[in-house]
Amino acid sequence: MAFQVPRGTQDILPGQSERWQFIENIAREVCSIYQYKEIRTPIFEHTELFLRSVGESTDIVQKEMYSFEDRKGRSITLRPEGTASAVRSFVENKMHAAAQQPVKLYYIGPMFRYERPQAGRYRQFVQFGIEAIGSEDPAIDAEVISLAMSVYQKAGLKNLKLVINSLGDQDSRSAHREALVQHFQPRIGEFCADCQKRLAQNPLRILDCKKDREHELVQSAPSILEYLNEESAAYFEKVKFYLEELDVEYTVDKNLVRGLDYYNHTAFEIMSNAEGFGAITTLAGGGRYSGLVKEMGGPEIPGIGFAMSLERFLAAIDAEQAELPIQSAIDCYVAYMGDKAKDRSVSILNHLRKAGLSAERDYENKKLKGQFKSADRLQARFVAVLGEDELEREAITLKDMESGEQQEVSISDLAEVILSRKNGK
Ligand code: HAM
Repeated sequence: MAFQVPRGTQDILPGQSERWQFIENIAREVCSIYQYKEIRTPIFEHTELFLRSVGESTDIVQKEMYSFEDRKGRSITLRPEGTASAVRSFVENKMHAAAQQPVKLYYIGPMFRYERPQAGRYRQFVQFGIEAIGSEDPAIDAEVISLAMSVYQKAGLKNLKLVINSLGDQDSRSAHREALVQHFQPRIGEFCADCQKRLAQNPLRILDCKKDREHELVQSAPSILEYLNEESAAYFEKVKFYLEELDVEYTVDKNLVRGLDYYNHTAFEIMSNAEGFGAITTLAGGGRYSGLVKEMGGPEIPGIGFAMSLERFLAAIDAEQAELPIQSAIDCYVAYMGDKAKDRSVSILNHLRKAGLSAERDYENKKLKGQFKSADRLQARFVAVLGEDELEREAITLKDMESGEQQEVSISDLAEVILSRKNGK
């Protein structure tokens, strides 16, 4: 029996992995510019961590976690997202005591959710995310959002839509919650079983239900924006002001609630508007969380962050036909004629590689013609041909595949000649 990858997962093969590396590098570069530092946390955590952070009433916790017991009977979960781990680590490593606040972190790594796979939705997917923990300044909200936009723009994406909302502080949320319960209670029987449970647990999540999205009561539900107290409204105004200062265009969507429980104040999502992009258009999502650090056993300090899936990022690049400048050509192919030259080509290849040149040779005993075909396939900029006669003279013929020019050079000078020709000297 031939094996296949598990449903909802994929192999990323050579030819594709270069694209992944390219966008990962963009993410790392932008993080370096904005001064976010990488954090690497375990891929599995204690299940309790996600119950406490992501929230018991969320789809993630209710239906989507890959949880199992380890050999000692502890409940372990493959991480479904990165914020919980980042905050756990922040608290565990007492990062709140660091001189520089907020602590600005980023991560890139696989996440796991048992969802129904479809285009853009996987069971294992890679998130790039950032978390800025320890500041209540609305300017950091705008910074986090603009960082996400910069990453997409650096890869050439143009058809982006940013939607923002405020979920308010605890008081605003309680008032809104009351209003939602009153709004839905009389007709909750018309809603799905999940929403009936949500009414008591977290009525805000009804607004995010995939099944009941079109219900008239969802459309007419009271907006959180009407329930923001003065402080929360002022905070939201400041975030919008700073976004304008940063030239980041946005739309306010009062129904944006996000699928995780830890948010308050700013919530946002970035969508692709590109034609031909699949049904799932959300590229990234994030927001502010005020109670999470405390919930994890730390001091009462807030954080804000976002995460984007690299799968959807690449799909958006494809939908917009944005070209990634990926260099796959090699510097030099070392071809040989005859056994002596074949043996010698091993050390010549090594010499080129030690000089930092990308180089390749034949390992299949191909004739010279076949070796040139390989060189073409590898888009070799130069082919160095070693014959027995030349070997006698410690020389090699260097062919420039762009101009067709040939020149004999001494083997000991080969790397240097290629390096200087490559740099246009
Ligand atoms: P989230 O909205 O659950 O938020 O996920 C963020 C992003 O992860 C989504 O916008 C999407 O790009 C990607 N994503 C989620 N599920 C899948 C899937 N099954 N397949 C492919 N991509 C997926 C969070 O995870 C929060 N931790 C974000 C955050 C960070 N909030 C504050 N800090």
